[in-house]
Amino acid sequence: MIDYRDVLGEILIPEDQLQKRITELGSEISHDYQDSKELLLVCILRGGIMFLSDLVRRISVPHAIDFMAISSYGAGTRESSGLVRINMDLNTDIHSRDVLIVEDIIDSGHTIASVLELLSTRKPASLNVCTLLDKEERRETPVPIRYRGFIIPNKFVFGYGLDLDEYYRNLPFIGVVDLKKYQSK
Ligand code: IMP
Ligand code: MG
Repeated sequence: MIDYRDVLGEILIPEDQLQKRITELGSEISHDYQDSKELLLVCILRGGIMFLSDLVRRISVPHAIDFMAISSYGAGTRESSGLVRINMDLNTDIHSRDVLIVEDIIDSGHTIASVLELLSTRKPASLNVCTLLDKEERRETPVPIRYRGFIIPNKFVFGYGLDLDEYYRNLPFIGVVDLKKYQSK
């Protein structure tokens, strides 16, 4: 795989802005869930891992974490089809728990809508969504978002958990992919 600098169009959200906003989200979540005894953060693999690991260090109320892996059909096309498959389910029984889903990005909304539909059948006490990024103008299905880091334009982004064909998740910032440069590689 080529160096990320060869596909980077621009840095959209630098590291310090990401960290500042995540600190704010952590405080907000800590405040809102101060009376919760059964908070469970559900991270959607793989894109959500960086966000989850920084976010939980800014949450001061007791909570557990669990993971779920989802794939949407048509992966590789950079468009979500609306059909999702669970590759790995939770280990935790979420019945009567306060569940907060932690996602990297909401685009069409199909992935998170399916996850919400599925998890709600398990009767959690509450079910909310926390997403780092929101490509609001791309929404095809309405999604209730309780916590949102940044609204971003309709551009393909990578870094900080988000991949470009599975690479570059380790970058500490959110960058815009220059698809012209990438496709010509
Ligand atoms: P949705 O179902 O269209 O909302 O798609 C959500 C999923 O698509 C996210 O969890 C990401 O895995 C992926 N995705 C959407 N936009 C981007 C992007 O700009 N960069 C990387 N992954 C993205
Ligand atoms: Mg993802």
